[in-house]
Amino acid sequence: MIELNAWDSDFFGRKIGSARVIASGAEADAMLSEARERGFSYLVIRLTPSDIPAMQMLESRGFYTSDVGTVWQHGLQKTAPPGILARQGTNDDNTIVRQIASGLFRDGRFYRDPFFLREEADRLYNTWAENLLKGDADKFFLIRDEGFIACELSGITGNIVLVGVSAGHQRKGVGTELVLNALAWFKESGAETVTVRTQAVNRGAIALYEANGFRLKGIDITMGRIVERD
Ligand SMILES: CC(C)(COP(=O)(O)OP(=O)(O)OC[C@H]1O[C@@H](n2cnc3c(N)ncnc32)[C@H](O)[C@@H]1OP(=O)(O)O)[C@@H](O)C(=O)NCCC(=O)NCCS
Repeated sequence: MIELNAWDSDFFGRKIGSARVIASGAEADAMLSEARERGFSYLVIRLTPSDIPAMQMLESRGFYTSDVGTVWQHGLQKTAPPGILARQGTNDDNTIVRQIASGLFRDGRFYRDPFFLREEADRLYNTWAENLLKGDADKFFLIRDEGFIACELSGITGNIVLVGVSAGHQRKGVGTELVLNALAWFKESGAETVTVRTQAVNRGAIALYEANGFRLKGIDITMGRIVERD
C-alpha cells in the first residue's frame, strides 16, 4: 500500500513513503498500521480536487493539507523567439546556481509542511538545483548570474522542472526569457507539449506561465501525515 520515496528518505534521513488514494477509513487504518510496522516517519498522498470525500476521511485520520498544486501546459504551436540567448549551464556554474536558488523557493511545499524544518527545505532546493545543473536535467539554461531554468524531455512531452530568478532581478523579463529559451529548445528537440507544475499560491510563477501562453491543465492536492511511534 505504501511505496518508499527513496531519494527523499535518504535526503531527509527519515523514512518517507507515498500512499495510493484510498477511500475507506478501514483502509486508512490498515495503511497507518503498515506505516508504523515498516518504520515510516511520514506519508504523502496526492489527490485531485474531486477526491473531497477521501480528503475528509484522511483528515479524520490525522492527515493535513500540505500543498495545492497547479499544472500548466503549452501546446508549442505559437512560440516567440527569445530576445536573449541563454547559455548552457556547466559544472563551473555551481556557485552561481546555489546563490540564485538560496532562499528563493519559499512558496515550495517543503516550507509549508510542518514535517520539514526550514533549514531542510533550504538545503533541499539548493541540492535539487545543483543536481539538475550537474546532469539530472536534460537541459539547463542560465541567463547571466540572474536566473536558471531546468528542462526534461520524455518522448514528445517536455517538462519545466525548476525555474528561478534571484530576488534582485525579478520582474524585469528574465523569467520570460528563460521560458522562451526553454520552449525553443523543447520545440527543436521534438516536443509537442510542455508542462510545468507550481504551487497555487505562487502568483509570480503563475503570472509567468500565463503571460507566456501556458494554460491551466489541472489542480492537485497533496496531503501529509506525520507517523508517530507507538
Ligand atoms: C517566477 C519567477 C521565475 C518569475 O521570474 P521574473 O523574471 O520575475 O518574470 P518576468 O519578469 O519575466 O515576469 C513575467 C510576467 O509575470 C508577472 N509577474 C512576475 N512576478 C510576479 C508577481 N510576483 N506577482 C504578479 N505578477 C508577476 C510579470 O509582471 C510579467 O507579466 P507581464 O508580462 O504581463 O508584465 C520568479 O518570480 C522567481 O524566481 N520566483 C521564485 C522561484 C519560484 O517560485 N519559481 C517557480 C517555481 S518552479
